Amino acid sequence: MNIIDLRSDTVTQPTKAMRDAMYHATVGDDIMGEDPTVRELEVLVAGILGKEDGLFTSSGTMANQLAVMSFTNRGEEVIVGDTSHIFNLEVGGLAALSQVQTRSISVPDGVYDIEKLESLIQEEGIQRARTGLICIENTNNLNAGLVVPMENIRKVCELGKRYGIPIYMDGARIFNASIALGIEAKGIVKDVDATMVALTKGLAAPFGAVLVGSKEFIAKARWFKQRIGGGYRQGGFLAAPGIVALNSMLPQIAIDNANAKILGKRLSTIDGLLVDTNRIHTNIVSCSIEKLYISIDEFLAKLLEKNIKVKRISNTSFRMVTHYGITELELNQFISTLEEIVIRLSPAVKCQQ
Ligand SMILES: Cc1ncc(COP(=O)(O)O)c(C=O)c1O
Repeated sequence: MNIIDLRSDTVTQPTKAMRDAMYHATVGDDIMGEDPTVRELEVLVAGILGKEDGLFTSSGTMANQLAVMSFTNRGEEVIVGDTSHIFNLEVGGLAALSQVQTRSISVPDGVYDIEKLESLIQEEGIQRARTGLICIENTNNLNAGLVVPMENIRKVCELGKRYGIPIYMDGARIFNASIALGIEAKGIVKDVDATMVALTKGLAAPFGAVLVGSKEFIAKARWFKQRIGGGYRQGGFLAAPGIVALNSMLPQIAIDNANAKILGKRLSTIDGLLVDTNRIHTNIVSCSIEKLYISIDEFLAKLLEKNIKVKRISNTSFRMVTHYGITELELNQFISTLEEIVIRLSPAVKCQQ
């Protein structure tokens, strides 16, 4: 049974080259600093992102949490976007692991209002929780994969410098942002103090993320990683597919972004579906069925009957993420199936109008 799975780019399967690389990886004890493959990956990503050093982590979540643990002190405040992954989807890790409090602020389309941001910075004071860190997410996962404009990143970083507050960028899909902005990834993260990239999304590796920053920051993060049981011993088996991913999958990211635009454009022409094509910056497409007389769960069940999986994101909308596991044929198949389902529901559309 061939399933068209558009729920996320995390469903991608490792390529044969990645599997071979795992099998043949040269490994050592990484806790003793002796795994050459892990080190190769860390150095490779640090180079790509223009930072001094890198740290291989189990996941994007682990990289984000280690960054906060390394940058902040207990009882400080961390400013995050209200739709960010670090705030919404990391099991309260900031409170549980770093013992910081979050000040979540609205970041429409991923863009910080700089005046508002500055007004929320807390400096020393007997009753104040000092602002210890500001987080940016690029691309914005829960915000339709939108890209943060460079101008906004620059202004946030300027503010950080002025107040002595480090800036961390969750760059899980930084290469999608790089394609969309037409700027090298290292140019996007140039002014931030640290960032991470996930290997398991559009890059299709089976495991991990890499956190990058200054040597001092990475040394601290490495120590926290060990504390939470993140020492990998022969971790090279897990790092090897990441190296292959970085060396071979970057052109695919451009295809994913382009496919998302094509998908969005075609869905926007189907009567009954609402797709804002201006909000397709990268590989995520959001679609609303609010004009149809059907609940989102029933709609998704109809798709599932046809072996299609998409992700519900609200009471009236779902998202699709393009990735290398979806062929052009499958994309076309998906669009025509969706169209057929909507046409069958279309009398309801008409009577609503
Ligand atoms: C923006 C962002 N940050 C962090 C993560 C977490 O990555 P992981 O699933 O590897 O923990 C994700 C996952 O989707 C994400 O989209």
